[in-house]
Amino acid sequence: MRKLLQQLGFVVVGITLPFLLVIYQANAQTQTTPVLAPTGSALSANPAQLPPLPYAYNALEPYIDAQTMQLHHDKHHATYVNNVNDALKDYPDLRTQSMESLLQNLDKLPEKIRTKFRNNGGGHLNHSMYWQIMSPQGGGAPTGQLAQEITKTFGSFDRFKQQFNQAGADRFGSGWVWLVRRGEKLEILSTPNQDTPLMEGIYPIMGNDVWEHAYYLKYQNRRSEYLSNWWNVVNWSEIARRYDQAKAS
Ligand SMILES: [Fe+2]
Repeated sequence: MRKLLQQLGFVVVGITLPFLLVIYQANAQTQTTPVLAPTGSALSANPAQLPPLPYAYNALEPYIDAQTMQLHHDKHHATYVNNVNDALKDYPDLRTQSMESLLQNLDKLPEKIRTKFRNNGGGHLNHSMYWQIMSPQGGGAPTGQLAQEITKTFGSFDRFKQQFNQAGADRFGSGWVWLVRRGEKLEILSTPNQDTPLMEGIYPIMGNDVWEHAYYLKYQNRRSEYLSNWWNVVNWSEIARRYDQAKAS
């Protein structure tokens, strides 16, 4: 009888242990997988699609003019999307991944398409965020925890804006200026071309486009004026959502 019970015990342990291990591994994976979809849900690469502008071309006037918005969205962003699809056309396996995942693993892409994907995939991801973090009802100041953390990190909201504008003005040539959350801390940084902080695994909470195509028709060489005026259209509720997502990642 004792032998039978012992055997039964081994059988029960043999069945339950692998089962528990699977549950544990699944849990561990859920807890450590970062949430890195900056647009709310991961951007599909199968195929990449131009998201519609969430407001009219002239909705951000007088700060950003209608013609700039139309060209920026319908031509520049559309070109990034077309080039992403062209780069991935011979790689059906890559198309099953999200844009975020591909950009985080550029070194795993075939060398032949790496630079093209980096520039255009980054362009697609960055602009998909850019339209969302602006709004005709934008402007003002952040609230809640984001506001507190900005004040704690930079001294005040005004000082944060000054430092963000300075980093945007200092970016030589084309690029982006970002507010990111690295570890537990907020930080301002800038990237060249269409690079995204996501390539380094850093979550971009908000970013401003300092390519000339974003401002030149209205502001010509006065990038600093564009950077200052941009705060009038900043959509703080979307940025607060992204901040929450950054904290959860
Ligand atoms: Fe742009």
